[in-house]
Amino acid sequence: MSLATSKNSITIERLNKSYPGPSGADVHYIIKDVDLVVKSGEFFVLLGPSGCGKSTLLNIIAGFVSKSGGRLRIGESEVSKPGKDRAVVFQQADSSLFPWLTVRQNVEFGLKMKKMPKPQRKEISDRYIGLVGLSGHENKFPRELSGGMKQRVQLARVLANDPVILLMDEPFGALDAMTRRTMQKELSRIWRETNKTVIFVTHDIQEALLLGQRIGIMSAGPSSNITNIYDVPLPYPRDAAAPEFYELYRTIQAHFDE
Ligand SMILES: Nc1ncnc2c1ncn2[C@@H]1O[C@H](COP(=O)(O)OP(=O)(O)O)[C@@H](O)[C@H]1O
Ligand SMILES: [Mg+2]
Repeated sequence: MSLATSKNSITIERLNKSYPGPSGADVHYIIKDVDLVVKSGEFFVLLGPSGCGKSTLLNIIAGFVSKSGGRLRIGESEVSKPGKDRAVVFQQADSSLFPWLTVRQNVEFGLKMKKMPKPQRKEISDRYIGLVGLSGHENKFPRELSGGMKQRVQLARVLANDPVILLMDEPFGALDAMTRRTMQKELSRIWRETNKTVIFVTHDIQEALLLGQRIGIMSAGPSSNITNIYDVPLPYPRDAAAPEFYELYRTIQAHFDE
């Protein structure tokens, strides 16, 4: 079996999403004819300006939004619905946490659904709550947390479930700069240790270069598409002060300045 078609790869062919235009007769394309293969175990970054259709594309891959045309496969299987293989970290945590559950109960929710015994659940939730810097806040409810803390709970919950594919939509956008840097490092480390397939959406070039093996550039919409893919042949952990890093930064920056 080739890498490209192995179990946790994502294959997109001529994918599009359209809505009826104002007159009802014309068709308005958000994304049009997107082709992409993300290999099993790859860290792929989708980079593009606000409103270009990044969330739309990610939500189609997640199975939350229906495509209007084209194909989407995970491994060899055509998919059109959400599945246990894919977990999503949204831009805003508010909508995804259960307000009536504590931090620990939120993180353990999926594990409880899987009927994992309590001691094992606690071990895992302790680990990920610690990882995202929320130790000591286990018994708080979402309403008692800041936006950044809620975002970290969401991340801990998704990681605790150990999905093979992680779909992340600007997950660190609401965090302060220091927490954001920590989370980027941790995510990168977790990915290198676990071999998950990751699609990470951002509009931040530095974040894209710190994390991704490849960076796909989306054009401004409508009818957005992935116009360029950059390889990032730099070793991990990445050094933003390295000349090679800066050179790639400038290349991608120039792409958007055009
Ligand atoms: N349900 C919808 N109906 C019509 N247009 C939509 C709908 N959802 C999103 N859009 C439009 O699709 C475009 C891309 O949105 P989005 O995928 O959220 O972009 P991004 O995540 O890159 O900021 C925007 O112009 C948005 O207004
Ligand atoms: Mg978005």
